[in-house]
Parts: sequence; C-alpha cells; structure tokens
Amino acid sequence: MNDQIARIRALQRPGEVHRDAYVAPDVFDMEMKHLFRNAWVYVGHASQIPGKGDYYATQVADQPVLMVRHTDNSVRVLYNRCPHKGTQVVIDTQGNTGKFFRCPYHAWSFKTDGSLLAVPLKKGYQDTEFKSSCAAKGMTPVPHVREYREFIFARINDQGPSFEDFFGDSLSSLDNMIDRSPAGRLEVVGSPLRYAHNCNWKMLVENQTDTCHPMVAHESSAGTVKDIWERQEEGTKKPMVVELALPFMSSYEFFEGMGIRIWDNGHGHTGVHHSIHSDYSDIPGYNDQMQAAYGKDRAAEILNENRHNTVYFPNLMIKGPIQTLRLFKPIAADKTLVESWIFRLVDAPDKLLERTAMYNRIINAPTSIVGHDDLEMYERAQSGLASDGMEWVNIQRLYEEGEGDEPEQIYNGTTEAQMRNQFRAWEKFMLMSMEKEGTS
Ligand code: FES
Ligand SMILES: [Fe+2]
Repeated sequence: MNDQIARIRALQRPGEVHRDAYVAPDVFDMEMKHLFRNAWVYVGHASQIPGKGDYYATQVADQPVLMVRHTDNSVRVLYNRCPHKGTQVVIDTQGNTGKFFRCPYHAWSFKTDGSLLAVPLKKGYQDTEFKSSCAAKGMTPVPHVREYREFIFARINDQGPSFEDFFGDSLSSLDNMIDRSPAGRLEVVGSPLRYAHNCNWKMLVENQTDTCHPMVAHESSAGTVKDIWERQEEGTKKPMVVELALPFMSSYEFFEGMGIRIWDNGHGHTGVHHSIHSDYSDIPGYNDQMQAAYGKDRAAEILNENRHNTVYFPNLMIKGPIQTLRLFKPIAADKTLVESWIFRLVDAPDKLLERTAMYNRIINAPTSIVGHDDLEMYERAQSGLASDGMEWVNIQRLYEEGEGDEPEQIYNGTTEAQMRNQFRAWEKFMLMSMEKEGTS
C-alpha cells in the first residue's frame, strides 16, 4: 500500500500532472478502488423512476448498480448482482420490474429493497446453513445513498466525508437549476445522448472549466455560425441555434471577466459574474410565472444567476441556466462514456425545454456541430501523451499562492485554478482509503 501512496504522490508537482494520471491502467484501477468509492457519485434523478418498481441501471465507480422505486416510494440503490451466483439481475438500462426482481438464471426473487423474497425448491436448503449465508440477505444495498432535491448520489466506502461536508456551498448551483422551475422541481426528459470517447475521463472534466479553448477549438463550428450570421441583413430575427452557438466565439476578455469560483473537494464553476448563457432572449410568460411563484425579488435573484458550467467532483457537470447535465463515466484509462441529459422545468413554458433540447443537440450530441471539436482534442491528447517527448501536463495558468486554502475562492475566468482544485481533490480522495488500509 505504501508503494501505491508513493506512486500517487509522485504524479503531481506544482502546476503539473504526470501523464500516467491519464494513461496508466494501474492508476485507473486505483481511481476505481479508492477515489470513486470515497466520493459521492451521481447515480440519477428521481424523475427517471416515477412509479413503484421503476428501475434504472448505471454504475458507481466500476460497480454495476441500479436505482429502483421501492413499494414505500423511497428510492433504493442496489448492487446489480444476484446473491446466488453473481448474475446481473437487470440488463436493460431502464424498465419496470413490478413488485420484485427475478433473476433470469435460477429465478431467485427479491423485493425492491433487495431483500430475498423466494427461492425455487427451497427445501433443498433445509438442512444447510443457508439462512446465515450472505446470499440469504438478498441483493446488497449500496451503503451510503443521499437524495438531494431528487438528485440521487451514492458513496460506496464508509470513510469518505458526509454528503454535506463533501458538497458544502457548491449545492447552490444545483439549487439554482431547480429553483428555475416555478414549481421548484425538475423532470428528466427522454434518454440521454450517450456516446463513448476514447480518452481519459479527467480530460472531459477539465474541459468543462477550460475557458481558453472555445474561440480556438470551436472556431470551425461556432465561427462558421458567426460568419453566416454576420452576412445576414440587418433586422433579421436571430434564430435560436445562432443565439446558442454565437457565445462560443466570445473574446478572451469576455471569459476573463466571467470569473471562476472554486470550492473544497474539487468542485467549482465558471460564470461567476456573467456567462455564455446570460443573454438568451426572454421566453414569453416565464418571468410572470417565476414572479408569481417566488415574488419579484427572489425571481430576479434566481434568473440573474447565470453560472456557466458547475463541476461536481469527480465526474458530473451541470448547466443551471440551460438545464443540462453531463456525466462522464470512466470505462478504462482511455475510454469514457459520456451522457448528456436534459431537464424540463416543471410548470415552465415548453419553449424553455425546446431551447434546452436544441442546446444539447447542437453542442453535445454525436451529431452535434460543437462537441466533435472537443472530442478531436481529447483523442489527440490521449495519443499525444504516449509520446516520450515529455512526461508532464501543464496546468499552471494564473497560479496564485494560497489556492485551496479557503473553502471558496473566486478568480479570473481564464485561470486553471479549477483544474488544480480537481487534482488536489483527486489526491485527497485517492489517498484517503489507502492511508487507512496502510495503517490498519
Ligand atoms: S444466479 Fe441468480 S438465481 Fe442463480
Ligand atoms: Fe468545448
């Protein structure tokens, strides 16, 4: 274990990260065993499983899990593993299992809280110690589950921080996204856009607060939109797609002024003062609904908070003003499954959902115009890191003494402080359980 601790500590020096953090399979295995088990990881949204028996299968760390609506209406998160011989109990990503799960191999069945309901030919176990076996307990629940305003998170290991300590004030970004609904509720709409990227998951997370790339990497896509738009006659009504794509071509000064806020435990967001989402046109009726629900001042406070990307360490990103969520699921050191989800603001005009869906389609979809620019950069970086020309990745931009000393700090919007913040948390959550094992 001491060897592993030394290996992890050697992967960072001030403002630099060793390439092995992105490419080495042994480091990836340690991330799954330690970091992703010690942190609170996003599982899903309660609206994905509205009815009793509805389930959704996903992963936490490298573990197959499912969340299910139990008969008492609570959301349970269980390991997707039959206690008999290990078969994954559900194979579809989502569905309804009725009152119980039934394993397809030998038909053991389980209540939706995981407990064992029935075993065929039960008498075969009569004179055995079956009752005291772990199999008799049924499907194992994931030990730590927390629902926060319908967002479900889970932590596998016991020694990680509490939910409140882990997220702290960063929950204000989730609150803002939810409060944008006059009813104070969100609903997932449809299935996510889901596609694999041949790169390390951390490249995707870092990109969420990388404000020095849009005007460069997206010049071919958003820049083309800009060129076409500038050739239109004056007075032409701006189409929604143009309104969404143009801000990607904003200047360095715009992004500098946006600001970046970092919080403890690797969370942070771009768009403290304004963002690429600030100048969307008003949607008729929405403001009135918000004012009726919250009062004039509170409605203005909610709607004037236009944060850009909020990263929830380790692998989640939300965009409050446009109600999208992206989850970066690690598959291997060089493979990540990316899911881009959209939400409806309950009781808000449909036009908002149309804008959200369009944003997801033009920016994040496999058929998008913008997301491919990023994908190209990640995959080039993943292969470039194999080069023996250099071993270190540089994240020194606008480094300041005292970063991470306070629970919350605000910087120039082009700093790489949030990437450094993630890597501080990365080491902390990697070592947390190693140190414990090392001393036990
Ligand atoms: S493996 Fe599930 S019932 Fe046998
Ligand atoms: Fe990008």
